[in-house]
Amino acid sequence: MSGISRRRLLQAGISAGMVGTLPQLFSSVAGGSSPTLEKFVQSLPIPEPRQPDGRRRGALSHTISIEEFSQNLHPALGATTLWGYDGQYPGPLIEAKHNQRLAVRFDNSELPSEHLFAVDERIGGTTAENHPGYDGSEPVPAVRTVTHFHGLSVAPEHDGQSDMWHSPDGQTGPRRTAEWQELPMNQHRLTSTYHDHTLGIVRLNAYAGLVGLVALTGHRESKLGLPAGEYDIPLLIQDKSFNEDGSLSYPERWTPQFAGDTAVVNGAVWPSLEVEPRRYRFRLLNGANHRTFGLRLASESGIGVPPLYQFAPDQGYLESVVPIGPGGDLETLVLQPFERGEVIVDFASFAGETLVLKNVAELPYRGEHSGSDLEELLQIRVTDPTSPPHDPSIDPQRLTLPTHQTPQSADATRTRSMDLGVSVADGLVTYQLNGYGFGNADGVVRPQRDTTEIWELQNTTSGSHPIHLHLVTFRVIGRGPDGTDPPDPNERGHKDTVRVAPNETVRIAVRFDGYTGQFPWHCHMLEHEDNKMMLRFEVTDDEETGNGNGHGNGRGNGHQKGRGNGHDNGRGNGHGKGHNNV
Ligand code: C2O
Ligand code: CU
Ligand code: CU
Repeated sequence: MSGISRRRLLQAGISAGMVGTLPQLFSSVAGGSSPTLEKFVQSLPIPEPRQPDGRRRGALSHTISIEEFSQNLHPALGATTLWGYDGQYPGPLIEAKHNQRLAVRFDNSELPSEHLFAVDERIGGTTAENHPGYDGSEPVPAVRTVTHFHGLSVAPEHDGQSDMWHSPDGQTGPRRTAEWQELPMNQHRLTSTYHDHTLGIVRLNAYAGLVGLVALTGHRESKLGLPAGEYDIPLLIQDKSFNEDGSLSYPERWTPQFAGDTAVVNGAVWPSLEVEPRRYRFRLLNGANHRTFGLRLASESGIGVPPLYQFAPDQGYLESVVPIGPGGDLETLVLQPFERGEVIVDFASFAGETLVLKNVAELPYRGEHSGSDLEELLQIRVTDPTSPPHDPSIDPQRLTLPTHQTPQSADATRTRSMDLGVSVADGLVTYQLNGYGFGNADGVVRPQRDTTEIWELQNTTSGSHPIHLHLVTFRVIGRGPDGTDPPDPNERGHKDTVRVAPNETVRIAVRFDGYTGQFPWHCHMLEHEDNKMMLRFEVTDDEETGNGNGHGNGRGNGHQKGRGNGHDNGRGNGHGKGHNNV
């Protein structure tokens, strides 16, 4: 077993029965040994909104460069070489109002031809031989990127899917057809991210810094009385490990659960935020590769803490505001990778106090909140002015939230059972969905457009996985061993990523509206996504190609039909194009 304990493997989600047969699998598992850095000595950076460059066919346009650059992430740490959108880490905040269309293009031509990290060629998508759909006429370039806007409803060719990559010298992945990504921004509202999505190296590209923020503001959002302007603060929470010289540390060989030993919030190591004794809105985003954050406030003097009043899950609003913290409806706000939660915190009675945003989720995460190897994330210092600040924002306990109909299980026309599993092939652990790895055409299921389905996500591994579907939002209708326990109070709303614990079945009602074509669904732990834990669904208008033998294992019938025009208000050339590349 070469230095890797049985416990470690079990923690990594590998079942007991498999352990005995495993050859040496990992050169490194979680952790790191970063230089010791003093906490809370720098202030929290706030990402600036990006001004559009102009207009393109009525949409506000952005051309964003992807660059290698260096940045100081802590005053005592040498400069860190990073990759970033617009040469920034994290990338700039991209804002839009409901229905304000955007067109975004990413220019990576200035990236070097060598990757910042070692590429593990055992992982599918990294060579011409193991890249599904790639014609193999040229080697797969080590440096390639594609950017996905997480949680947005867009046509497949604008969705930034894993095999739509391009390289600095202009090579392209098999399903890349559009340079400009057209984003209708027609959802109600969300705070989310745009991030790299490249097949086989997403964990490396995102870890290098390719993550930025998106905020789509709803019609009524500004009228709700939420804290606004400088009192509205995004917190992109990540973990990293560093070498002595300040460079990022990441294992050379693929590992199922990389986690950093240093907290980075909005691109700064262990920052500190000064707040006034009044209400703030925080947009919390887990941008880590693998780590789950279980968030709660703690006070240094032990005087108690204000609740986190959560009003929004991944998208839209919750049915009602959920107080989180001691005595609240939940003790901890759990965010798995790329889940989001928006909260109001009232510091009014904490003038002069120092609080800390803490993480109590165990690593690897299986639902326990008893403490973490990476506990402190962000310090919050409340000022003590002579007179209390003017605060026009609403008391979160009196906040009434707009309702947007979520997908209803009563409307479901079929149920699919979807298995989250793991196996070992050629000495490599691979995670699988329904027994398939990414690229397997038999694994494609075909929901019909404008129908609702229930997906039963059954986790047979020993770790929790955040399962994300592109294009759609869903409602969590049940969890627990049989999928019949109620969802958590803070997941009663529009979700696009959901936590599935070991031995748990999470039942979701999904409405497939918007676009036809192929979209991925995958585990959002980037190491798992890279190593096959991703499949496609194809939304179809065609009743004949339909739904395979769906119930039970959700397998499609594998029959492909090319389709072209006419989807979604005439927008749609070529949505069916990727089929023979699967
Ligand atoms: Cu946030 Cu398929 O991704
Ligand atoms: Cu996504
Ligand atoms: Cu996973």
